[in-house]
Amino acid sequence: MSQPTLPHTQAEIGRPRRRIVGVQKVTGQATYAAEYTPDDLLYGYVVNATITRGTITGIDERAAREIEGVVEIIHHLRRPKLGYFDMQYSDIDAPPGSPFRPFYDAEIQFAEQPIALVVAETFEAARYAASLVEVTYDKAPFDVDLHKNLDTARKPKKGIDSILKPMPPDDYGDFDGAYAAASATYEGEVYHRSQHHNPLEMHATITVYEADGKLTIYDKTQGTTNSQIYISGVFGMKMSDVRVIAPFVGGGFGSGLRPQYQLVMSVMAALHLQRNVCVQLDREQMYTFGHRPETLQRLRFGASADGKLTAVSHEAFAETSRFEDYHEAVVNHAGMLYPVENVHLEYKLVPLDRYSPLDMRAPGGLTGVLAVETVMDQLADQLGMDPLAFRLKNYTTTDVSSGKPYSSKELRACYEQAAERFGWDQRKPTGKHPQRGNRLVGHGMASGIWDAIMLPAKATARLTTEGKLLIQCALNDCGQGAYTVMSQIAADELGLPFEDVTFEYADSKLDASPVQGGSFTTGVVGSAVKAACFALKDKIFHLAQILDGFPLGDALLPDVTFTGGEIVLNADPSVRIPFTDIIAFNKGKALEVSKTNVPNPFKIKKYARNSHAASFVEVEVDAQLGVVYVTRAVTAVAAGRIMNPQTARSQILGGMVWGIGMALREETLLDRQLGKFMNTNLAEYHIPVHADIGELDVIFVEEKDEIINDLGVKGLGEVGTISMAPAIANAIFNATGKVMTQFPVKLGDL
Ligand code: MOS
Repeated sequence: MSQPTLPHTQAEIGRPRRRIVGVQKVTGQATYAAEYTPDDLLYGYVVNATITRGTITGIDERAAREIEGVVEIIHHLRRPKLGYFDMQYSDIDAPPGSPFRPFYDAEIQFAEQPIALVVAETFEAARYAASLVEVTYDKAPFDVDLHKNLDTARKPKKGIDSILKPMPPDDYGDFDGAYAAASATYEGEVYHRSQHHNPLEMHATITVYEADGKLTIYDKTQGTTNSQIYISGVFGMKMSDVRVIAPFVGGGFGSGLRPQYQLVMSVMAALHLQRNVCVQLDREQMYTFGHRPETLQRLRFGASADGKLTAVSHEAFAETSRFEDYHEAVVNHAGMLYPVENVHLEYKLVPLDRYSPLDMRAPGGLTGVLAVETVMDQLADQLGMDPLAFRLKNYTTTDVSSGKPYSSKELRACYEQAAERFGWDQRKPTGKHPQRGNRLVGHGMASGIWDAIMLPAKATARLTTEGKLLIQCALNDCGQGAYTVMSQIAADELGLPFEDVTFEYADSKLDASPVQGGSFTTGVVGSAVKAACFALKDKIFHLAQILDGFPLGDALLPDVTFTGGEIVLNADPSVRIPFTDIIAFNKGKALEVSKTNVPNPFKIKKYARNSHAASFVEVEVDAQLGVVYVTRAVTAVAAGRIMNPQTARSQILGGMVWGIGMALREETLLDRQLGKFMNTNLAEYHIPVHADIGELDVIFVEEKDEIINDLGVKGLGEVGTISMAPAIANAIFNATGKVMTQFPVKLGDL
């Protein structure tokens, strides 16, 4: 007799799926932070300082107060009492130091510092009145010049954020000796200015002052939990009295990792006036808080005649503010990518009269690897080696800088598959390239590396009374597809069709979530969702074991399969228990489990944990004008298991576009005399547009990782940016023979 076969539920993990909120977003139905419409909403408009450093000596609000609809003007002289903690706040992404405190005192510490908030019945009235606030100052001298202050560079202080952004390891081997003995050496500088995130949605917060004095806050943030903790701390409120909601985020790129000043202002005004207040920044004000730090790097690499990298010195000097040591891992990567034994690393900060920098799209990694990978090509050139052959010659499965083996590393497969797809064998030596019309053609490649970070996270799984699954977590998503992927993970764990899973998210009253960032969301929150679903499964099974008549006999959990909303006995698939039977047995009540997933340090600490990528790029360079076109590019990524190939591909495409931005477009220009950024608008701050994008291709290589987490996921996004930017620079070198050392590359460099 043939056994009935197990019904096959389509595996969700690995299946391409559109984002569940995609239609809402593209049809304008998604509600962003500034778009909520509570009753009696007031609008706050921020007044920014017009000096770069000094003291406010007076604020004349008379003209502003005469504007119809103006309700209140808040500044350091009229700052509401805040409660026990009085601005002693923290946020989980804060660097060491003392965060900027809006309206704290009369001191101006950086250009465009927010100094007052005009609150009015309409946005227009608030904005107009803000323009009428007259502020007088005592100006003080300031210095915003990185290059001129390199002699003040010092090591950053360590902080809680150093867990995510490790300081460079101590020097190892003998760099000086090895460099002196090297057959081929290259010494160079790489420099880029500050850059800004420029998400499409500008930062905004609506604070709803509830009748009982509790707050419901719609915030532009990458972490509802983080904003909740921050506001509770600043205003001395109970966590349970502060609820932060942010289901849609119109782009983050790191700008929403830290709570921004519009949040504290909106809450301050709402508490003070006991009314609902919206504070929205305008596009220009989006340039008044964090940015990728201007960074100067000095590199000296040495290799033996047969192409072994023998000596690496990597030094970086980055801007920070006077009040915080924003730092990132810039110089750590050469020793992780290549098995070089003599290494000197130095990472120093130059405090300036500027606002603190902030994580932006692969912070540190993009800056550092851009330098490492362009220098690698210069060494390859000197050795007369093909750039890919040079990297393969220096391939390693161990992170020599820490002495740990990689938990998994399929970078070699990335190189091979992307090279094949790209047609790397067609590459001509530098300077020997054909022209297409008046354009020089060049091919370049580069490696990428990014951390696979694991953190604790919590999620709740509930079997509803209909026998369906509800997942809950405070996680919110800038658009990468996290909601969809979490639902896929849950569906597979419980054997339910995707349609039977609902994910409730982006509300701080749900289980605490880390910020969405660092490419760690799928690994971190996904693991919590999986753990919660597994615990729920266990709970369901325990009830199934004691059902009337004991249909499962003495079967244990491994002896059954959860599929199609039923528990099926493996030994006799005709025995099936629908989830709805379990609910009925539970007297019609839902079953719920919350679970915190804490990564096992004993397991993961023995390994280096990183995702990898390789990009191959073709550029055309206009021989007369110097304009660079990225005509086509292939990026191969090794990031563990790919949960959803469609959203994953989109993430890497986005990363590649930002790589083009880094290499060719993005910089915020600082006037050193005025101490302020000048191109603070989307017309003059150049990001890649459609016309800048050629043919982009993404490959995911197979990579099995049994160490990193139960899902085998490392995370995606940033790694695709990292390899792209240096590959473009290397392709330009191949086309023109000119070494790119300043980014973005400009017409005058070519
Ligand atoms: Mo990303 S810079 O971790 O938001």
